[in-house]
Amino acid sequence: MDRIKITGGAPLNGVIPISGAKNAALPLMIASLLTGDTLELRNVPRLADVNQLLRILGNHGIDHTITGKRPGQTSETGQTIRLDASSVIDTCAPYDLVSRMRASFWVIAPLIARFGEACVSMPGGCAIGTRPVDLLLFALERMGVRIEIEGGYVVARAPKGLKGAEIAFPKVTVSGTHVALMAATLADGTTVVENAAREPEIVDLAECLIKMGAKITGAGTSRIVIDGVARLHGTTHTVMPDRIETGTYAMAVAMTGGDVTLENTRPEFLQNALDVLSQVGVEVSAVNDGIRVHRNGTGLRSVDVTTDPFPGFPTDLQAQFMALMTRAEGTSRIRETIFENRFMHVQELARLGAQIRLDGDAAIVQGVERLKGAPVMATDLRASVSLVIAGLAAEGETEIHRVYHLDRGFEALEAKLGRCGARIERISA
Ligand code: EPZ
Repeated sequence: MDRIKITGGAPLNGVIPISGAKNAALPLMIASLLTGDTLELRNVPRLADVNQLLRILGNHGIDHTITGKRPGQTSETGQTIRLDASSVIDTCAPYDLVSRMRASFWVIAPLIARFGEACVSMPGGCAIGTRPVDLLLFALERMGVRIEIEGGYVVARAPKGLKGAEIAFPKVTVSGTHVALMAATLADGTTVVENAAREPEIVDLAECLIKMGAKITGAGTSRIVIDGVARLHGTTHTVMPDRIETGTYAMAVAMTGGDVTLENTRPEFLQNALDVLSQVGVEVSAVNDGIRVHRNGTGLRSVDVTTDPFPGFPTDLQAQFMALMTRAEGTSRIRETIFENRFMHVQELARLGAQIRLDGDAAIVQGVERLKGAPVMATDLRASVSLVIAGLAAEGETEIHRVYHLDRGFEALEAKLGRCGARIERISA
């Protein structure tokens, strides 16, 4: 298995191009099941999760083509994928595919909406908590779908089609909102989603669906209204920039010091996290087509954060921020309110000398003067990259094992950091 070796201590300086967002690309790819026409997605990141979803969609009968590179494009220029769901042959998503990527469960929404039936494996365990799908099924049931659990599969039936409904989520859910949005586009009548997630990825999906002919208003607010239409058509859509990748590199620069421009991204997608970085003592400014992050030799201040649904501080940046706080002056309290058990990085950061104590849903980080390199183990996507951030500042060598977690969500990580001065290399087994 590959590992990543980092020799810490080098500041980061230069430009990092930000890729298309994984968590926008995945639901957009799934939305291709809603139409028999071609959906062309641009700026799709080159990630293991994208390839895995292509396999899952292929199993349903979706054909895809990936456009070759144009002159001047680098290996990190997002790819263009054309998806064609004109001849879906199978409305069942099997366990061995769904269990590898939770988001693939969301195929249930377009399948039931377009074909009136779907059979999708329950996703099963997950490293960052129990992550149930009850709210996704609640949304579908509200639209008249009959749900049964048979042999570990969710069997959904709506022979007469879906009906518009009031869906008031008892808690904010990104996956529930994606599913409700996709299903409601082809339902008969009007669907109102209350307490909807407001994440930018929801807006990106809604914008693409609108281009496909859907009638949606209010995406980005907590009340989304969808008037169902009889059919959707193909379109071309560019995937939004990855706000979590953006925040991750911003925190890496905050950690090492230096001056980096994050290119092709937008500050409003992660304003809360950028404000926190300013409080920590990092200079953050909007520049043409991106964000400049700058820290000279001055120390880092401890700041408390609590994760929250958008526009709050994202859970997907919690681990990276914790890595940063291990070097800050004073004590920081980091509360995780979205997922239980999303603190697997704590033990690994401790191997580098971090002082962190868990207290229920919070981690209390006591900043230390120095971290020291050590072998560590990646456990999930965001936890892994927090170890990269810590390794960039640790004295000596840090070796990160099980890097396939990183490859699920960070495109060309070593190349992007390496070009800015990080001493980082992948060692292939
Ligand atoms: C999405 O997961 C993201 N995944 C996650 O990113 C992200 O952490 C999360 O949203 C929160 O922002 C993708 O977009 C592919 P939820 P999702 O539905 O949609 C509970 C990463 O690292 N819940 O908003 O699964 C759930 O357990 C990943 O890229 C139910 O109780 O998150 C959690 O506590 C990790 N019942 C909370 O709601 C349900 O039916 C929010 O989950 C559904 C969710």
